[in-house]
Formats: sequence, structure tokens, C-alpha cells
Amino acid sequence: MTSESSARPPLDTERLAGSNPDLPAGIAVEVVKETGSTNALLTTRAREGAPEWHVVVAEHQTAGRGRLDRVWHTPARTALTFSVLLRPVLPLASWPWLSLLTGRTVREVLAGSGYPAAVKWPNDVLLGEQKVAGILLERVETASGPAAVVGIGINVAMTREELPVPEATSLAVADPDRVPDRTGLLIAVLARLHRDYGAWQTGGETAAPQLADSYAAACATLGRRVRVQLPSGEVLTGTATGVDEYGRLVVGEQAVSVGDVVHVRLDSVT
Ligand code: BTN
Repeated sequence: MTSESSARPPLDTERLAGSNPDLPAGIAVEVVKETGSTNALLTTRAREGAPEWHVVVAEHQTAGRGRLDRVWHTPARTALTFSVLLRPVLPLASWPWLSLLTGRTVREVLAGSGYPAAVKWPNDVLLGEQKVAGILLERVETASGPAAVVGIGINVAMTREELPVPEATSLAVADPDRVPDRTGLLIAVLARLHRDYGAWQTGGETAAPQLADSYAAACATLGRRVRVQLPSGEVLTGTATGVDEYGRLVVGEQAVSVGDVVHVRLDSVT
């Protein structure tokens, strides 16, 4: 065994089998050695008729996609790169909440493992001011109606040198003594997402305000001075005061549905 394979073990496919009682019933995990993007592969599966809770996880994702047309780069076996197929019954106007909910779910799991994680709107998961996980939700039209492909990338074992940008971190860089094994972390995120998604889908009218409250509690953006790069190229600055009923970030008088948020450090405010 090479030092790399012992330090970076493969995912344990036996623990990811449907018979594992830690995985909620109905979750089917497909492990692939290498693929361009798990979101792209799961989109194909969705169009082929895959059911809700089909999950694709890649040991090595070679052309990972990020939000706002960015790339998501992760060396083999250093990250959790996976996508979950969901078919929400709630109206499409509510779907942005699924992306916020997933960020909160990942935050909760990392916080439960002792990491001081927080969400940056809409769904980046931060340790301090550095990004440890990202989420890309894509809508797919299928023969049985629209489906959601929820892609999650968590930087687990990357060294500082392997991180793509200085604004990124990994669980190993943040705390080398506590790095969770990727299989256990994947199971924990899927189990928690199953619970949180179920509550959102079945919660009726009380679910949305409850979700908004718990999202706000997990979100480090609220109350902060922010700079938001809008898709139009316009830059909005101000204090983020809340998240509205559609999951949009409220900055001053404006509600933003898509944008790249930077938390402005107080010492850089002029
Ligand atoms: C972001 O820009 O923050 C979103 C990053 C999402 C990356 C994940 S990795 C698994 C899934 N497959 C992809 O191609 N992207 C997502």
C-alpha cells in the first residue's frame, strides 16, 4: 500500500450499501471511481428515470462545476464530491430554499463533528472566513417532471498546497487531529439531509418560517456588511439584514436572488 492510499483510503462501498441501518431507507448510493461532474452524471441518471434519493459520489471528479459558472477542483480521494437527486413536490418558487437548506444541513453536520462552521449566503459553508464546502443546485427536466440535482463538495483531506484558492480551506487544514473519514461523513450528511428535506416537504405552512429562522441562526452573512457582485455586473454594498420568504438576501432596500457575496471586513470599510 502506498502512503497516499493509506492516508487517503477509498470510500467504503459496503457501508454505503442500502442494508446499512445508518442510511435512511430509499437512499441508493452509486460510487464511481472517476467522472467529470457528479451533477452531470446524475442529470443523465435523472433523465433515464432514476428515483428520488439516487446519489452519485465520485472518488475523483475531474471537471467539477461550481456556482456562477466556476470550476470546482479536488484531487482524487481528498474531498467528498457527490450529488443527490430529489423531486420536490413544493412549487418551483420554493426551490431556492432547498439550496439554503442543504447549506444549513452541511453546516450542522460539521458543527456536530466539532468544526465551528457557518453558512455564507446562499449556501457556502465556511470555517472562519474560509470556504470548506460548496453546493450547486441544478434543475433538470425529466419525463416525470422537474427534478433537483443537489451537488455537494466538501474539502476533507486536502493539504494547504492542494487547495485551489487562498480563500478555501479543508477539514484537514482546519484541524488535522479530527479529520472525519469520508464514508462516515457522507452517511451523516445524507441522513441529516433526508431528515431536513422531509421536514421541509411535509411541514406545511409552519415549515417555511421555521426553516427561515434556523437558516438565519446558521448564516454568518446576516448582520454583516457585504459586497454583492450581481449577474448584471452591478456591485451592491450594504448591510445584509435578512432572508425573505423566497430565500433572497435582503441588502438595504434590495432583495438579491443570485450573486457572489463577500463579507466585508470592518477594517477594510472606508
Ligand atoms: C460552489 O461553487 O460553491 C458550488 C460547488 C459545488 C461542487 C459540487 S462537487 C459535487 C457536485 N458536482 C459538481 O460538478 N459540482 C458539485
